[in-house]
Amino acid sequence: MINVSTFKKRKLQNQKISMVTCYDYWSAQILNKSKIDSLLVGDSLAVVMHGFDSTVHATIEMMALHVAAVVRGAPNKFVIADMPFLSCSKGLEPTMNAVHTLMQAGAHAIKIEGADHQADLIKHIIEAGVPVMGHLGLTPQSIHNLGGHKVQAKAEKEALELVENAKKLESAGCFSLVLECVPNQVAACVTKSLSIPTIGIGAGPDTNGQVLVLHDLLGVNPDFNPKFLRRYADSHDLILNAVDHYHRDVTEKDFPRLEESYG
Ligand code: KIV
Repeated sequence: MINVSTFKKRKLQNQKISMVTCYDYWSAQILNKSKIDSLLVGDSLAVVMHGFDSTVHATIEMMALHVAAVVRGAPNKFVIADMPFLSCSKGLEPTMNAVHTLMQAGAHAIKIEGADHQADLIKHIIEAGVPVMGHLGLTPQSIHNLGGHKVQAKAEKEALELVENAKKLESAGCFSLVLECVPNQVAACVTKSLSIPTIGIGAGPDTNGQVLVLHDLLGVNPDFNPKFLRRYADSHDLILNAVDHYHRDVTEKDFPRLEESYG
């Protein structure tokens, strides 16, 4: 299993880090057998698994349940858990209780969106022994402030701000940083400015690693087509055809056959 030191070493050795989201036991079991470096129990699970319209609906209880299932299914993978909406904004004690819950659920590290203004809080979490990954650019928990899912830091002023904020997170002790939906030149500039690795999603080829939502790369939702997504399977049609095939076999009395029954 990789760890936080591996993240830094990979950047030094110019070797990319692969990451994918994982939310449940059965997919974790498959990913545990894969070569993928790390798993992210992202708060995107509120949308993908629970059907909410944004990640604002993820709760710490929800996250902990999914983290525990993933860790049971993928005991050999480095698992990072998202701190959900407002879980870092209600004061030190509630924040530390939320961190405690995710770590005791089995996470090896947590990810915090934005929070470059909360460097002291991040330092405190890290000093308490918990590795923290930052997340800048498009931060979906702030979707109502950002006015939608848009590419961030397109203007020079915003791009410079992003570099400064990334440096703040590095100084606070983050072991790596997710950059979501920013122009590739900006991601490249942030990546060069830091000694910690950047993990991109919609951030171009020059980050130190890449993360995608598992369901997106598997092609579960044919209607989700952002420019940054590459599909590696057509699971939507695979699942639909398999279930329709099963339905046909049942309704046409082809399944189960005698050899699929107990005597
Ligand atoms: O919640 C999530 O899945 C994420 C990734 C998209 C980086 O934060």
